[in-house]
Amino acid sequence: MPGDKSISHRAAMFAALAEGTSSITNFSTSADCAATLSCLKQLGVSIERENENLLITGVGSDGLQAPQAPLECGNSGTTMRLLAGILAGQDFNSTLTGDESLRSRPMQRIIEPLQMMGARISSDGGRAPLLIHGHKGLDAISYELLVASAQVKSCILLAGLSVRGRTEVIENQITRDHTERMLSSFGVKVETGEAEREGENARFAAVTGPTRLTAQRVSIPGDISSAAYFIAAAALIPGSSLEISDVGVNPTRVVFLERLQALGLEIVVTNGREVNHEPVGIIRVEGPRKQLRAPELPVTIGGLVVPQLIDELPLLAVVGSQIEGGIEIRDAAELRVKESDRIATTAENLRAMGAVVEEFEDGLRVAGPARLRGAKIDPRGDHRIAMAFTVAGLIAAGETEIGDPDCVAVSFPEFFELLESVVER
Ligand code: S3P
Repeated sequence: MPGDKSISHRAAMFAALAEGTSSITNFSTSADCAATLSCLKQLGVSIERENENLLITGVGSDGLQAPQAPLECGNSGTTMRLLAGILAGQDFNSTLTGDESLRSRPMQRIIEPLQMMGARISSDGGRAPLLIHGHKGLDAISYELLVASAQVKSCILLAGLSVRGRTEVIENQITRDHTERMLSSFGVKVETGEAEREGENARFAAVTGPTRLTAQRVSIPGDISSAAYFIAAAALIPGSSLEISDVGVNPTRVVFLERLQALGLEIVVTNGREVNHEPVGIIRVEGPRKQLRAPELPVTIGGLVVPQLIDELPLLAVVGSQIEGGIEIRDAAELRVKESDRIATTAENLRAMGAVVEEFEDGLRVAGPARLRGAKIDPRGDHRIAMAFTVAGLIAAGETEIGDPDCVAVSFPEFFELLESVVER
């Protein structure tokens, strides 16, 4: 699998802030991470390719330069939200903008905590473009997340890197922890632990600034969220057998695998080694031998785990359509503010394929098992919808046509080519 998108964004940003030249292997091929690289170049960071590696020469914590033009984040929420944290404490102004989808997504969630730190940010009613009036000397804060979001958590921690004192983020629902792990790899001391809050799951992460990052050799594990489509396809198509090696198996990212296993799918995860503080393993999948039936019915996905499988929920809805009893997904209103309204796009496209779907404000219920039939799919420019419905197309009777298939490049440009290489006709 190509390198993990979430981890690649962080590796590139931290390498840019470090002292010395970092070498990154298996950097994500996604358009989203390319947007991060081009923003960093606009900020005066030197980035070169050397064979398979990316060489990033960091400018140190004080060395970023004022960009000459708005920073174009494309479709990438991670680029915009994490860079906003880095830029808020610089002594120059910058503008972050993006495509139509990104400009419609909520940014108040980062503006508010950054303003609490003393940052000055103008926005279009809480949406991009964001004009960041850079201001050195932000204040350290302790902030409890209002939305369970790794992007918001990371934004605050990154702003905290240059602040004198301890910046702490408390989360009541666990979100992916790549920022904490990658910062540690770059030599930053990150405190993490259980927070003294009522919620059983409350955790904190804190950095004490000002910090210095040192250049590293980084190897990016394969992207488990990209692997997810192959895993689901293999587990749904009888006779399949698939092995994916060198894939990231960070515990905050593998919850969807546990849910697929609970649905009766044959998946085995071998947790191997740790690279740059990230666990990397092997995933083996076998096709079903009989009608899939979850041992425990009804199957509902909801509650505290939702942020840990948020990107895989459209795919889980497709898988759920093949399970006796179907699936219900709740507590996932965040899906409505992703690259598309993923509750609406998932429901609409599943219905186009003949599934019975009930839509809720915070999720959906899909009846199963459904005999999906090929259909024209409109992913509304959303890469994960295009890929989830390609998997649906593989198990449906008849032809499925994905409109705007190129949108998969946002996270996974090689998706169709790689799929061709493992699917037998
Ligand atoms: C990401 C966090 C998630 C996820 C996104 C990548 C990250 O978003 O949906 O694809 O790299 O931190 P939120 O943190 O906003 O839920």
